[in-house]
Amino acid sequence: MELKLLLLLMSLTVAATATTAEYVRPPPRKTLHFPWDRKPSSQPQQVHISLAGDKHIRVTWITNAKSSPSIVEYGTSPGKYSSMAEGETTSYSYLFYSSGKIHHTVIGPLEHDTVYFYRCGGGGPEFQFKTPPSQFPITFAVAGDLGQTGWTKSTLDHIDLCKYDVHLLPGDLSYADYIQNRWDTFGELVQPLASARPWMVTEGNHEKENILLLEDGFESYNARWKMPFEESGSNSNLYYSFEVAGVHTIMLGSYAYYDEYSDQYNWLKADLLKVDRKRTPWLVVLFHVPWYNSNEAHQGEGDEMMATMEPLLHAAGVDIMLAGHVHAYERTKRVYNGKSDPCGAIHITIGDGGNKEGLAQRYKNPQPEWSIFREASFGHGELKMVNSTHAFWSWHRNDDDEPVRSDQVWITSLVSSGCVAEKRPELRKILMAP
Ligand SMILES: *[C@@H]1O[C@H](CO)[C@@H](O)[C@H](O)[C@H]1NC(C)=O
Ligand SMILES: [Fe+2]
Repeated sequence: MELKLLLLLMSLTVAATATTAEYVRPPPRKTLHFPWDRKPSSQPQQVHISLAGDKHIRVTWITNAKSSPSIVEYGTSPGKYSSMAEGETTSYSYLFYSSGKIHHTVIGPLEHDTVYFYRCGGGGPEFQFKTPPSQFPITFAVAGDLGQTGWTKSTLDHIDLCKYDVHLLPGDLSYADYIQNRWDTFGELVQPLASARPWMVTEGNHEKENILLLEDGFESYNARWKMPFEESGSNSNLYYSFEVAGVHTIMLGSYAYYDEYSDQYNWLKADLLKVDRKRTPWLVVLFHVPWYNSNEAHQGEGDEMMATMEPLLHAAGVDIMLAGHVHAYERTKRVYNGKSDPCGAIHITIGDGGNKEGLAQRYKNPQPEWSIFREASFGHGELKMVNSTHAFWSWHRNDDDEPVRSDQVWITSLVSSGCVAEKRPELRKILMAP
């Protein structure tokens, strides 16, 4: 009797400091099979949008006709297009597969926080999107490792129910895994959301698809999911940055070279030099392979990248780092160099978008001191930057109704806690080193 009570008290104390929620998961769901007909038409397919520098948006779509113009007509009232822009076309072949024409057209300048109606290729259905606000508050929806299963569908349905401005995806999109028309079905699956809000993505291992080391890989990914790397001074679609409403977001590449002599590392230094924390008090970083992960899956895979880049990002005062790869959810305290640190970043693994590989159910025990919440369930996150000092993070599992917050936390910025100012000399030293 007393022992039971003692155990109960102990478990309550543990629950107050760290949580591994107990929950019996339903089995994984199958890959959805969409009828995908390659009709030879100029009908736009797989429409998605992404941010392309201040006040500009890149519209991407695919057609299968021999000739179809890369034009986007747009305006602020339905059916009336006051502006037009023309873009460029690309395509690729992969073994026996030839892609349709992939159109990328940048439009703007656009007003902030405004609904636009648009049409691709001079005809076809009308789409609409909302541009992000210029000031706080701004909300990001976050989900990685999406794939295209019944679980993906439920994640997307949930995201559709929340009010957000930009979608952040820390890698592993289609799980096409070399079968190229699965990139097309993925494009169709996400179109309702990705044509309405900017989708900002970075690459995961499933984007690589290199055959026998013949090429660098990422051919399909780079052709279809062109991100604003040129606009952010990067020479690779695998890493770039963008600024929106007081948030500087850096999308790193877990699968591009990241050592101190690499292009990526040098670009990162140059990008951090441009960050002005008065203009963008929040600094957020995304990449695919998590650095702080207490799941059994993918242990240690991020260690090398972390050893090179964490000192730099810590000196820069990164507030939040979001990763995927592990098919589960985990949130840490502010950490640096393997330990809690009030000036470190909060790391969140959100690789629970719903792909065919299922969940990563096994955790290392005991739970590390830096790990606050971990659970293997499908879901998505919402990151609301309320103002320059406060942000609210919540995690929503698919098994519950969307408004249910399974995990939530208020985050205060490192600018407001003085960490950024304190670290400035250290940052300068790293950035000025040859
Ligand atoms: C920022 O938002 C938080 C949470 O709502 C609030 O407590 C705080 O006063 C706000 N700060 C400013 C400067 O408005
Ligand atoms: Fe992955």
